Amino acid sequence: MKQPVRVTVTGAAGQICYSLLFRIASGEMLGKDQPVILNLLEITPALKVCEAVAMELNDCAFPLVKDIVVTDDPAVAFKDANIGLMVGAKPRGPGMERKDLLTDNGKIFSALGKVIDQVADKNIRILVVGNPANTNAYILAKNAPSINQRNISALTRLDHNRAIYQLAEKADADIAGIKKMIIWGNHSVTQVPDISFATVNGDKAADKVDATWAKEEFMPIVAKRGAAVIAARGASSAASAANAILDHMHDWVLGSAEDDWVSMAVPSDGSYGIEEGLIYSYPVVCKNGDYEIVQGLEVSDFIKDKMIESQKELQEEAETCKDLF
Ligand code: NAD
Ligand code: LMR
Repeated sequence: MKQPVRVTVTGAAGQICYSLLFRIASGEMLGKDQPVILNLLEITPALKVCEAVAMELNDCAFPLVKDIVVTDDPAVAFKDANIGLMVGAKPRGPGMERKDLLTDNGKIFSALGKVIDQVADKNIRILVVGNPANTNAYILAKNAPSINQRNISALTRLDHNRAIYQLAEKADADIAGIKKMIIWGNHSVTQVPDISFATVNGDKAADKVDATWAKEEFMPIVAKRGAAVIAARGASSAASAANAILDHMHDWVLGSAEDDWVSMAVPSDGSYGIEEGLIYSYPVVCKNGDYEIVQGLEVSDFIKDKMIESQKELQEEAETCKDLF
């Protein structure tokens, strides 16, 4: 039997976590042979609901769950944590952009970054979900200098999955036939969903769908899908976000498919001319518990301009919250 992995989940009483925790506990994230200890962090007023979630987890009798800790103390929640799923934050409402959340949510990530720096495993793998996810991850990274910075990521896998669905639907293909999708940049409306290298059942996507559709429909539909869900549902996406969190962590820890790549927002190493340190979404391949940014892609001028626009937004977001690091 493997040693349990300590998974800390923040915002555990919220709507995303209600879809997420049960699937982690059943082994969908780390594998059906990987025991877990679940540390559930909430703010004090939500502790009762969080305890109810823990009761339900217990009532599932998941064999892989070795312990559940419910707490409002970040130092308890992150002590020796191996994985941190940073979901706890305010969601946006109709008419808001994600960066409008920065004033409220940025503070959460500077505070938790400091705690993680002190008590977590130095190789903790962090996934920031709370919006604006890339800049919250940036704030966390700046406040946790002793943590392996490569391991601080943000979620753009939901955008990646949305993009795959849109292309499959348009090309009348199976989801499994779509490979090498890319989301570049920020998890915001400036994100760059890019089908330039995508394939549909082995053929170039560009030969299956026309370029005008890609520019004028596909890109804005994917970039604005979060807002469309909020408009339709009255609340932000939850089950699809939870699913993307599982995909992101599963592939990072256990490896991505050999003939494919996935999108992860990770600290830029300067690849594709993006400012080093910004948490920027790239196509990556995951192997042996690590990720590598896909190198050497010949990006068109159209996409490059959009990538720079998204970088600019991230630089502006970082500038507006520099008092937090
Ligand atoms: P929610 O309001 O249902 O739940 C958030 C939970 O976080 C609440 O229970 C709240 O009490 C808790 N919380 C707040 N501050 C906390 C703190 N300091 N420590 C621990 N817990 C804290 O919201 P949700 O729908 O679960 O969404 C959570 C976040 O995820 C939002 O910011 C939302 O915008 C974001 N989100 C991101 C993506 C993505 O793709 N990156 C997708 C969907 C949602
Ligand atoms: C999403 O993409 O669905 C989330 O980031 C929630 C939002 O605010 O759009």
